[in-house]
Amino acid sequence: MGKGFYVGKAFAIGGIIVAVAALSTIIALAVVYSQERSKNLQVPTTEGPTIKPTPTPSNKPWDQYRLPKSLVPISYRVKLWPRLKPDPVSKLYIFTGQSDVEFECVEDTDLILIHSNKLNYSSPGNRNQVSLVAVDSWAEIPFKSPWFQTVTQYMVLELNEKLVKGRRYRLYTNFTGELADDLGGFYRSEYKDDDGVTKIVATTQMQPTDARKAFPCFDEPAMKAHFNITLIHDHGTTALSNGKAIETTNITTDGESLQQTTFEQTPKMSTYLLAFIVSDFIFISNNSTDQVEIRIFARRSAIEAGQGNYTLSITGTILKFFEEYYKCPYPLPKSDQIALPDFNAGAMENWGLITYRETALLYHPTFSSNSNKERIATIIAHELAHMWFGNLVTLQWWNDLWLNEGFASYVEYLGADKAEPSWNMKDLIVLNDVHRVFAVDALTSSHPLTSKEDEIQRPAQISEVFDAISYSKGASVLRMLSDFLTEDIFTKGLQTYLNEFAFKTTVYTDLWNHLQKAADANEVNLPVSVENIMNTWVLQMGFPVVTIDTTTGTVTQQHFLLDSNARVTRKSDFNYVWIVPIRWGKTGVVRDGITWLQDKTATIPGMTASGSDWILANLNVVGYYRVNYDQGNWDRLLNALSTNHTAIPVINRAQLVDDAFNLARAKIISTVLALRTTLYLNRERDYMPWESALDNLDFFYLMFDRSEVYGPMQDYLRKQVTELFNYYKGLTENWVNVPSGHLDQYNQVNAINLACRTGLEECQTLVTTWFRDWRTSGTNRIHANLRSTVYCHAIAAGGATEWDFAWSEFLKATMATEAEKLRAALACTKQPWILNRYLEHTLNSSLIRKQDATSTIVYIAQNVIGQPLAWDFVRHQWSYIYKEYGGGSFSFSNLINGVTKRFSTEFELQQLKQFKEDNAAVGFGSGTLALDQSIERTQANIEWIKENQDQVLKWFKDNSRRDAAAVTSVL
Ligand code: BES
Ligand code: ZN
Repeated sequence: MGKGFYVGKAFAIGGIIVAVAALSTIIALAVVYSQERSKNLQVPTTEGPTIKPTPTPSNKPWDQYRLPKSLVPISYRVKLWPRLKPDPVSKLYIFTGQSDVEFECVEDTDLILIHSNKLNYSSPGNRNQVSLVAVDSWAEIPFKSPWFQTVTQYMVLELNEKLVKGRRYRLYTNFTGELADDLGGFYRSEYKDDDGVTKIVATTQMQPTDARKAFPCFDEPAMKAHFNITLIHDHGTTALSNGKAIETTNITTDGESLQQTTFEQTPKMSTYLLAFIVSDFIFISNNSTDQVEIRIFARRSAIEAGQGNYTLSITGTILKFFEEYYKCPYPLPKSDQIALPDFNAGAMENWGLITYRETALLYHPTFSSNSNKERIATIIAHELAHMWFGNLVTLQWWNDLWLNEGFASYVEYLGADKAEPSWNMKDLIVLNDVHRVFAVDALTSSHPLTSKEDEIQRPAQISEVFDAISYSKGASVLRMLSDFLTEDIFTKGLQTYLNEFAFKTTVYTDLWNHLQKAADANEVNLPVSVENIMNTWVLQMGFPVVTIDTTTGTVTQQHFLLDSNARVTRKSDFNYVWIVPIRWGKTGVVRDGITWLQDKTATIPGMTASGSDWILANLNVVGYYRVNYDQGNWDRLLNALSTNHTAIPVINRAQLVDDAFNLARAKIISTVLALRTTLYLNRERDYMPWESALDNLDFFYLMFDRSEVYGPMQDYLRKQVTELFNYYKGLTENWVNVPSGHLDQYNQVNAINLACRTGLEECQTLVTTWFRDWRTSGTNRIHANLRSTVYCHAIAAGGATEWDFAWSEFLKATMATEAEKLRAALACTKQPWILNRYLEHTLNSSLIRKQDATSTIVYIAQNVIGQPLAWDFVRHQWSYIYKEYGGGSFSFSNLINGVTKRFSTEFELQQLKQFKEDNAAVGFGSGTLALDQSIERTQANIEWIKENQDQVLKWFKDNSRRDAAAVTSVL
């Protein structure tokens, strides 16, 4: 095979084809649109492929979502030319392309199915745009006119003769597509440069199933191949792809002078990891003496303002950390990272060219908070972790996605910790992942980590597996596994796994096998095999609550369900019994080693306590389970909290609060006991327990901020937070300095937030003064860490003047994180008319970017006044919202969860059920499960309020009146 781009016999020379295709674009795209509008119609074209009617389900291969196994791709050559200017007539942005794919026939077949979605192959007046040759003879192989099965997203070629096992073939195509602003496949992003000129960026998001929107391909993760990419682009723009650019040449096409950049062939890789980008971005890079070239790309003004510097400074450190962690060099010669103005997810691990939304990559000390900085460090670590785990070694099919995403979500903390060792990153997984997923995994509508390959078929089903279970439960159980094996053995197994399967694909049990070998070789003491232990965590949904009776040492486990009335219909082979590793300790003594609970109940010698001694289990919350104790032990733990709270490790202080509140919701302990865990908070200065309490009290706000409980609850919390507020006031010398610790900075924000939320006057004066100073002086002197909170409370306290000021600042913000803070704070206003106007803005992508639409609606729903407005809005606009944003994965379930979180009345439950019924035909996409979860949650909330409102009201009344010491003494 020659080095150049081979053009099949059916084609003229490359450049001309691209030009011809361009000329016929408008007509071609008109065809695409008519296909879209009426998928059932057969659209006649002169010679090109035709569309067949939507199939009724059949056994035909083209009606199956999975590709047949007869053909295996080896290498592709793909040349794409995205137009960064709209067509003057149609006003559409388009791209044209040609590609060929060489594949091997591994089973005789007379059928070629190749994924192709929304691409058009016909240009009237031109020759047929698809041809096939046998590689050994270069003889053309005839086929019937190609046609499209749009439901399964195939181009179908029915051949006149059979392809023969063991022989190679090459399929040539020539096509056009729309460079739409739909955030999927090959799409366009827009921004205004410093002169207010609109600039277009052509970029990609292939995962999970949109590579087929950019060029015809065997679009399944196991269909790994080599890719040779060429991009055609205007002078003054840069073209990027996974490989290094080998050369950029000047070409003339149709009288137009252009550039053509060719990229180094990629290693064998999956289609979902491809990326093609054309932009006028600039970059900064690391020292060229480093082995791997690291570059950070972004808008010119962002790079010039130094917004890429932090990212560049930590990327090398994290990359080296993972090379060492995996004991495997970074598999590519370069690592590009690029910040895009429009991007659906947070970031995407395209091999060698990682794409980010701007807030996840760009940092500036004046505008970015420490939380923004942490997000950048963790997301970079997450995506870099995928360069090996996911990219070099890839799970065979999307049903095992949890291992890919769960793994990256676990090791992102290790990578970020390497870059920022003083931040206590490794502790934060407990709040961000373990607690987050406990909330959904405690519902009967949860599901196991694993699913069967044939259960995940359609693109919508594939999108659905990108959920909190895959990410956060995956991360949590892998952290537990790594803990009981030890990190050393865990990484040893990981290293041999990566080594054996480099450039190949796996199933999750392959990892268990390697970990088992490492455990055996190092004589790790396990009660049963790694697989047997892990099966109980990955094959059944949910998690246990382990109850310890410290009077007898009896330990029992039980499936933890938030709603004690809910019935579990899903069967489990393990009857909801887990093999539980328990790390535990006794007053002041941290024991080494793990006690295994393998049955429903057991008696553990020594797990008893009396006097003032307590037992504490699940040390540092490395286990994926909750813990309950006998009343005596709870009392002794609460006593320890109020007398000497630092005797209990900080993560466990956070856990005691979280366990207590959730056990109370499940009616396992009393709500009063849960509330008592907050009594010591006036002496607590650490972030994690406070954050855990606030997360749980948020539920109280959601349930009670429209009821008579609200006032007394505010009084109590104001009392509890006042000392923290004063502590930070002193520490920062009247809010001038910044606390030195990362987590202390977070807790300062908590202090201000809760103080203002509970109406502490000094706090309200503080934030409104700061905000007014900015509004009137034009200089924003508010520290970046505090901006979100200050903006929100000032806008809530203000009216249209404050809102309009913040809105104009939002529109002119040059830094994405600043815009983000304002966008969230704009939802804090108490004015219904402004909130309704803001909701309308979410449908206008020139005001609120599409990527931000659903999260803006959720922000509005968080506001007690915005909640019903957001719900009405979502109900009325459902089909439009679904059509526009339904493809996105996380955002969609977040939307449904977000607007229904406060639901706690029969009436709201009826509305929710009605909504489900009314829109069954439209669908809920990746929000399907979220909708069921919301219904279950609402039912549980109704019950909970019925049972708890009176005692909660009384407790808050009692405890807000007395001073803290008196409260402790009456209990
Ligand atoms: N592979 C995902 C991005 C993705 C998600 C693509 C859903 C398609 C559908 C990426 O590795 C990822 O997980 N990104 C996260 C960030 C991470 C730190 C949790 C994201 O986008 O939020
Ligand atoms: Zn990921």
